Amino acid sequence: MKALILNGSPRPKGSVTKILSEVSKNLKNKFEVEMVDVYKLDFKPCIGCRGCRKNETECIMKEDEAQIIGRKMNESDVIIVGSPTHFNNMSAQLKSLLDRNGTTLFQETKPLPTPNLKGKKAIIVTACVTPLFFNFLLGMTRGTIKTIKLYLKYGGIKVVGSIIKTGTEKSTDLDSGLIKKIERLCNRLEKSVAIA
Ligand SMILES: Cc1cc2nc3c(=O)[nH]c(=O)nc-3n(C[C@H](O)[C@H](O)[C@H](O)COP(=O)(O)O)c2cc1C
Repeated sequence: MKALILNGSPRPKGSVTKILSEVSKNLKNKFEVEMVDVYKLDFKPCIGCRGCRKNETECIMKEDEAQIIGRKMNESDVIIVGSPTHFNNMSAQLKSLLDRNGTTLFQETKPLPTPNLKGKKAIIVTACVTPLFFNFLLGMTRGTIKTIKLYLKYGGIKVVGSIIKTGTEKSTDLDSGLIKKIERLCNRLEKSVAIA
């Protein structure tokens, strides 16, 4: 079974990268894991031509790494999407990659869209500098999780759970509570794939 990890953080020593590395460690027994640093990918942003909606299989722009990631999404059993919270949302690079993969996720059928990645499972990861209480009040990581979830929902991908780290200015290190939470969530993800 394959697990694809999309790391939307540009910081190799940041919290999101650390959480995703821990997720990768946990999944390695059961899955063939591939972690992709979205910031290192070479791809153009979506130009809104809607050509993908005529083609219905993938983006029709000149091939770059956006289509390659789309194919990897298709081939994976589980997808882990991680992003820092940037102004209550995912990072621009990650959003750009997902926009380029609209047709990977769903077909524009009427009256409702048809999900293309049904049966796959996901975990969402995010981090923000704001401490817990204020993060909650200002809906910061909530905004990030909600938007990533929306993309996955269009694809028919079930989100098994999310991992959030707040107050990252103090430290980007993962405490034992968070490490245990990651382990529990990875177990849940494995079980959900086994059941399906
Ligand atoms: C452009 C930009 C926007 C940001 N917006 C927010 C925000 O809305 N709320 C917040 O708490 N932190 C915000 N941050 C801080 C990051 O979320 C924080 O540094 C987080 O730890 C980054 O994740 P990383 O450690 O994995 O890189 C922002 C940082 C950048 C660069």
